[in-house]
Amino acid sequence: MQLATSIPAMQRLAKKWRRAGVRIALVPTMGFLHAGHLSLVQAARKRVGAAGQVVLSIYVNPTQFGPHEDFSRYPRDLQRDLQLCRVAGVDLVFAPGDAEMYPGKSAGDYSTFVIEENISQGMEGAARPTHFRGVTTVVAKLFNLVRPDVAVFGQKDFQQAAVLQRMTRDLNFPVQFVIAPTLREADGLAMSSRNKYLNPEQRAQAVILYHALQAVRAAVKKPVVAARLKADLKQFFTAAPLARLDYVEFFDPATLAPVKQVRRGTHMALAVFFGNTRLIDNVRL
Ligand code: PAF
Repeated sequence: MQLATSIPAMQRLAKKWRRAGVRIALVPTMGFLHAGHLSLVQAARKRVGAAGQVVLSIYVNPTQFGPHEDFSRYPRDLQRDLQLCRVAGVDLVFAPGDAEMYPGKSAGDYSTFVIEENISQGMEGAARPTHFRGVTTVVAKLFNLVRPDVAVFGQKDFQQAAVLQRMTRDLNFPVQFVIAPTLREADGLAMSSRNKYLNPEQRAQAVILYHALQAVRAAVKKPVVAARLKADLKQFFTAAPLARLDYVEFFDPATLAPVKQVRRGTHMALAVFFGNTRLIDNVRL
């Protein structure tokens, strides 16, 4: 397995592979890898085969964190990540630094961003106003640097995947966009690097996100008014005193537009705080 920590090194390899007709798959991550990320690596390998190159990027992207969010304390452990990547069969880890990814930023003159203006507005976009601008910008940069044929993202960040898929289409990136299923812990909690922040009591209660999704899934055998479900869910969350519901939304998975009537096929997403830790999850009902 190779490691590229500079942009010129990454660009040289991408150029060499493309010249040789080698297919490239990219798995963008912010590191502190878990089994969910490794399942994205398997999905990437499946798309490019043994002769292809699977690139996993590790970059804690500052522009997608708000000023009071967890950028500085986001968990980082490159040596552990490299070991996991070796075992998972990654060909190249690309781990660039801030000075190269955002040239001019320390001098205050980095000024180019990629903005999706429609489906990034609600839910995560409403709760974290500059978040998707950072995500689309860094992923567009990674696409430019790695030049992948395939890129793999996780369904756990459903809105992120939808926004990035729209960006890929709108900006004509020649990238096959793959969304891989969410991996869950034994009790149903979606795997996330941020689960590490939870203390044992919070971790025990965090499974309420999954229980909420399952409870609504069971309730929508016939159409139900969204406002009614939202009110019931607020009540449901009082069972976990360490949890604070940030939002719950019901929407059309194709347009991300909120719906008034929830039925089978409607998508549900929610965000919940445990102390300062914010977890998200979603399901197609
Ligand atoms: O999902 C993530 O880990 C990040 O948002 C991504 C896509 C790697 C961009 O920084």
